[in-house]
Amino acid sequence: MNKVTKAVIPAAGLGTRFLPVTKALPKEMLPIIDIPNIHFIVEEAVKAGIKDILIIVSSTKESIEDYFDVNYELESRLRKSGKDKEADEMRKIAEMANVMFIRQREPKGLGDAILYAKSFANGEPFAVLLGDDLIDFDEAPAIGELIDAYEKTGGTILGCKRVPQHLLKKYGVVKPKDKSDAALFEVCDMVEKPKDPSLAPSDVAVLGRYILPPEIFDVLETTAPGVGGEIQLTDAIKASMELRPCYSCIFTGTRYDIGDKFGYIKAIIDYALKREDLKDEVLAYLKEKTK
Ligand code: UTP
Repeated sequence: MNKVTKAVIPAAGLGTRFLPVTKALPKEMLPIIDIPNIHFIVEEAVKAGIKDILIIVSSTKESIEDYFDVNYELESRLRKSGKDKEADEMRKIAEMANVMFIRQREPKGLGDAILYAKSFANGEPFAVLLGDDLIDFDEAPAIGELIDAYEKTGGTILGCKRVPQHLLKKYGVVKPKDKSDAALFEVCDMVEKPKDPSLAPSDVAVLGRYILPPEIFDVLETTAPGVGGEIQLTDAIKASMELRPCYSCIFTGTRYDIGDKFGYIKAIIDYALKREDLKDEVLAYLKEKTK
């Protein structure tokens, strides 16, 4: 079985839920205090042992490329003013992984974006991490848990969480092959954004992490546009279940929906409360506000 050594981060969406800021700033660059969201996504892949990362961008997302590149001018100015520690930090970002970029020509859906990774994947299974889903982990990076599940089963792996009934309508919801409370179980179908909880086949939602097999590209190439006229990854994964078993892996970290305004605010508060340089002030401020 081929090992998973590559990751794809699709980041070419329009980010309409975060307009107007996404008119000029990619959603992936929205900061969690002073670190752009996509930094944490790349870090999660790196902590799982992945070094080669392809970010799918669009023509308006050059700031993502700049962020992972070396900025000689900034570094030399920092060093000249004695800020070597800051200059080293900047260099570390550029060296954290082999980050490559490709442009999706038109935002024709997540499935279409993934198709741009075909030659990068080069016939191997690969990890997919969506920037909307920020996952805070203490020990095991979520994508690492999915890689373990892939190594155990050899199947397509969907990163999932159990979510409350009223939120199921926002997600793809899996149908277990057999009833199961386990963290890893086989899936036989998926329902995308069920309008009513009674239409959801379980309470297990797919949340932005996948291990996809190489044959997904053949399936995507023949997948017709679905909801919103876009090529949907969910449709291709469902079709690929006939070729290879698919599993739900419930990861352990805490997940934040950064594509949603309240989810974004929650992430900023929680990350601030974990930072030594901020937690006391932020906590005192929150206590004062909620008195
Ligand atoms: P979303 O469905 O969240 O779309 O995409 P979006 O454009 O980013 O955000 P909204 O809904 O308009 O606010 C899920 C993931 O797929 C990527 C996005 O960048 C995001 O990571 N994507 C989506 C692409 O790369 N290309 C596309 O054509 C569509």
